Amino acid sequence: MNRRYRKTIIAGNWKMNKTASEGKALLDEIKQSVGKIKWCEVVCCVPFVDIPMALRALKDTRIAVGAQNMHHEASGAYTGEVSAAMLKDLGVKYVIIGHSERREYFGETDELVNKKVLAALEAGLHPIVCVGERLEQRDMGITHELIAMQVKAALAGVPQDKVRKMVIAYEPIWAIGTGRTATAEQANEICELIRATIRKMYGARTARAVTIQYGGSMNAKNASELLAQPDVDGGLIGGASLKAPDFTAIVEAANQ
Ligand code: PGA
Repeated sequence: MNRRYRKTIIAGNWKMNKTASEGKALLDEIKQSVGKIKWCEVVCCVPFVDIPMALRALKDTRIAVGAQNMHHEASGAYTGEVSAAMLKDLGVKYVIIGHSERREYFGETDELVNKKVLAALEAGLHPIVCVGERLEQRDMGITHELIAMQVKAALAGVPQDKVRKMVIAYEPIWAIGTGRTATAEQANEICELIRATIRKMYGARTARAVTIQYGGSMNAKNASELLAQPDVDGGLIGGASLKAPDFTAIVEAANQ
């Protein structure tokens, strides 16, 4: 992380876990244990139906609420979907876009991710855009090209003044929920590549202001080493965000 130029952000991704009552209990615990947040921004990305509860529970804290997905259209006949304006109106600050589980199980393409990014920014939300390679792609040696392409596609048409509002999360698919973490060097190498890609598109000042997270089995034990890397500006945390002591330990690592 490099606090001089950009925010360190620790975001929990609850995925499809926790009913509103279970989530309330978890947030009450997290609120207590996280204590004073010094340097970093802390976000809990909860299921849609938990959002009103989370906003109430975190009202007087510095922990922000995020969503895990949204539709790219402003409104209309899209049964079952939720728009960026609906999230913004509630008080949601962040929205995860293009998580690998959405890409894999719900067919989200780079083009769709781009539409969602543009809609989220338009509504005043901060998108957390996920990019990452599969193990076969890493083994084929195409990780760099693939990630650069995902980043370019996600950012297509994003105006210069909005890029700083975005967060990019590098999440190697082989590390998500597997207990297998990228090494600190692997994580930094790709986060650096993401920054270089943004630099080519928008220049050095913008690139150094963008928060780039690592995600994939980040936990209480490995967080410090990953966050000590110069281009790793935080974490997107799945499994470990569902346990208050583990999530708190990661926030503390970012607070060092
Ligand atoms: P994990 O999930 O921490 O459980 O690997 C990360 C994510 O999917 O964002």
